[in-house]
Amino acid sequence: MTAAPLPTLHVEQLSRIYPSGDGQVQALAPLTHTFPPGLTAVVGPSGSGKSTLLNLLAGFDTPTTGTVSVGGTVLTTLTETQRADFRLKHYGFVFQNHNLVSILTALENVEFPLMLAGMPVRERTDRARALLALVGLEKRAGHLPSQLSGGEAQRVAIARALAGNPELLLCDEPTGNLDSRTGELVLGQLQDAARQGRTVVLITHDREIAALADHHLQVRDGVVSAVD
Ligand SMILES: Nc1ncnc2c1ncn2[C@@H]1O[C@H](COP(=O)(O)OP(=O)(O)O)[C@@H](O)[C@H]1O
Ligand SMILES: [Mg+2]
Repeated sequence: MTAAPLPTLHVEQLSRIYPSGDGQVQALAPLTHTFPPGLTAVVGPSGSGKSTLLNLLAGFDTPTTGTVSVGGTVLTTLTETQRADFRLKHYGFVFQNHNLVSILTALENVEFPLMLAGMPVRERTDRARALLALVGLEKRAGHLPSQLSGGEAQRVAIARALAGNPELLLCDEPTGNLDSRTGELVLGQLQDAARQGRTVVLITHDREIAALADHHLQVRDGVVSAVD
């Protein structure tokens, strides 16, 4: 499954200041960067601003200064509804906690975004099955999240993230709750997604996982710098 032609993910003078008590925290210092296709690992200690960056890249949060653009579309120029629609078309997300819907089976979880996108039921079931096969979980299609191991649930979450064939995949500590071997399996899925032409941004504080990425960014006290 090859991703559609890639809209470049670019940030220009992107920063975020949060109010904090009487003062403020510069969670992200002004950053100008183009995220290349492939897997970019973002490493940095807890509280350094990694999730702040990811939330801005997704348009979940509004920057204090600067812009996030995807293929020339500046996220802040879109309305909330347009942004949600844009995310559905172009983004996939994987978080530390798989965030699967507990009352839906693995298959239904993967189908869910396709249903939102209005895909007919037969087509979306076929696609969801193919995606589960891609992450090696076709035999788990009928299982509820509670019946899956942590690594399996995370792979279902990846299948779900890939359902709409997004060009961008944003991952916040997806291996954070997994043992290192399972973490590497999950990473392998993200590498595959990147090889298919996607731009994958992977936040991790696991240096061994980060070492396997194509590109590397480091965050310290809100300052992002390239390390390759
Ligand atoms: N919604 C928020 N309101 C106020 N401060 C926040 C908020 N989100 C994050 N911060 C602060 O911004 C800094 C960076 O946080 P975060 O991006 O979550 O770091 P990381 O993901 O690297 O652990 C921290 O000092 C954190 O306390
Ligand atoms: Mg974080």
